[in-house]
Amino acid sequence: MRITPLILFTLLAAMVAGCENYDLDLHQQNTYKIQEYPRFKAPEGSVAQGSIRVDYSDLDGAEMKSPITNISAATKNGKKLYEIYCIACHGSDGTTKDAPVANHLDPRPVNLLEEDYVELTEGELFQRIIDGIGSMPSYRRDLSDREAWEIAKYTLKLQKRN
Ligand code: HEC
Repeated sequence: MRITPLILFTLLAAMVAGCENYDLDLHQQNTYKIQEYPRFKAPEGSVAQGSIRVDYSDLDGAEMKSPITNISAATKNGKKLYEIYCIACHGSDGTTKDAPVANHLDPRPVNLLEEDYVELTEGELFQRIIDGIGSMPSYRRDLSDREAWEIAKYTLKLQKRN
């Protein structure tokens, strides 16, 4: 068969057309991106893990019991978390003495070793951490419930209560 210019043109055109949807960049593929429609629906009745936070603000902190069983491990982790989230205002020993920002705040962060605060129950400490109080921020978004209980445990240690 003689390859006429017409046949050659038709073959080349078909090849070029075939390349139209071909892209070396994988980013351009027909895939779904995160949260892009259509998404799969969770089976009916399923509960998303870790995304439901209980609102503790209406509960009586004095009645709340810590879920922590391994006290020494929790206190150790609580210390680490205290040094991240609390030390700037309440100081390394809870008295605010070496707290870098305490003197710049009004009202001033409290000395956690004072009687009023040593009288707080562990549940009340947990509640203050999760909900905040006055000008002290709420840590609901930064800490899990467990982490807040761990800080409460470490606060008890600072107050020489455990
Ligand atoms: C930005 C500074 C700041 C940080 C950070 C901070 N606090 Fe406070 N805290 C305060 C201030 C200010 C008060 C006094 C609040 C008031 O009565 O207005 C307070 C009060 C408290 C009280 C006493 C609550 C009461 O019943 O009156 C406790 C307990 C406490 N903080 C624990 C903590 C713990 C634990 C952390 C770390 C998770 C923390 N705070 C982080 C500023 C801070």
